[in-house]
Amino acid sequence: MEKHFAVIGHPIAHSLSPDMHEAGYAALGLAADYERFCVLPERLGEAVRGLKTLGFTGWNVTIPYKVAIIPYLDELTAEAEKIGAVNTVKVRGGKLIGNNTDGSGFWQSLQCRADDYKGKEAVILGAGGAARAIAFALAGKGMKVQILNRTVHKALDLAAAVKSSGGDAEGKGLEAGDWLKSAALVVQTTSVGLKGEDYPFSLQEISPQTRVVDIIFNPWETPFLRDARVQGCTAENGLGMLLYQGVLAWEFWWESAAPVEAMKRGLLQAVGR
Ligand code: ATR
Repeated sequence: MEKHFAVIGHPIAHSLSPDMHEAGYAALGLAADYERFCVLPERLGEAVRGLKTLGFTGWNVTIPYKVAIIPYLDELTAEAEKIGAVNTVKVRGGKLIGNNTDGSGFWQSLQCRADDYKGKEAVILGAGGAARAIAFALAGKGMKVQILNRTVHKALDLAAAVKSSGGDAEGKGLEAGDWLKSAALVVQTTSVGLKGEDYPFSLQEISPQTRVVDIIFNPWETPFLRDARVQGCTAENGLGMLLYQGVLAWEFWWESAAPVEAMKRGLLQAVGR
């Protein structure tokens, strides 16, 4: 029987999830499809019930519904519960299960061993939804996480949440500082750079040993990421996080290994690479 999947959000036209998942179905010869649905905020509950009624196996949830969808679900995985947001829903035995694969997807995109970064410093720039998932994931791997945000109280709140789950975290304002010399990993999660704008501070003092990830991938290289690369850092954009959150969503839905290479090719083709 053909399986149906979707992504819901508002706006949604930009989502590359259909390209990624459909490339996977084609590679494995699976009878499945994956659609984009633009859902109005006042229709979220109806949309969720509609997807279930129509027999969808699962769907992804993107901005602005990752938190708002929670009241319409029956259960949350431990990961979604901890992060307080859902990016993947599965219908199991008539129940809607909310999961979150953003943080683990980010970790998996680093393609390293579980303890490679243990005890090392991570700096997360921003304290929004993406930062939240990444902060829990990195702290869960034993990293000392510093969260830097323009609005300081949000950085402090996120750091407090990570600490209360047993992680090592500290929050402060968004500015250059000594962390530039000591961080093993820097993750840029704010929307700065989406329109090609410069970052509010220079990376001139950063150590070339630092691995820098900007979760934006359109533009392919933000001015922040270019700056990091020019300083000699390993610099990666957000396509890896998008890929691996999709890989983990696939595995949650299908309960079998995802065709990672095919999904990656689907994504690269969609961005014209
Ligand atoms: P997402 O869910 O994608 O992470 P979000 O929750 O809207 O998006 O968070 C956006 C992040 O980008 C926030 O950390 C925001 O900082 P504030 O909390 O101070 O608003 C950050 N951000 C957006 N525009 C920014 C700018 N011009 N300079 C610095 N930070 C910015």
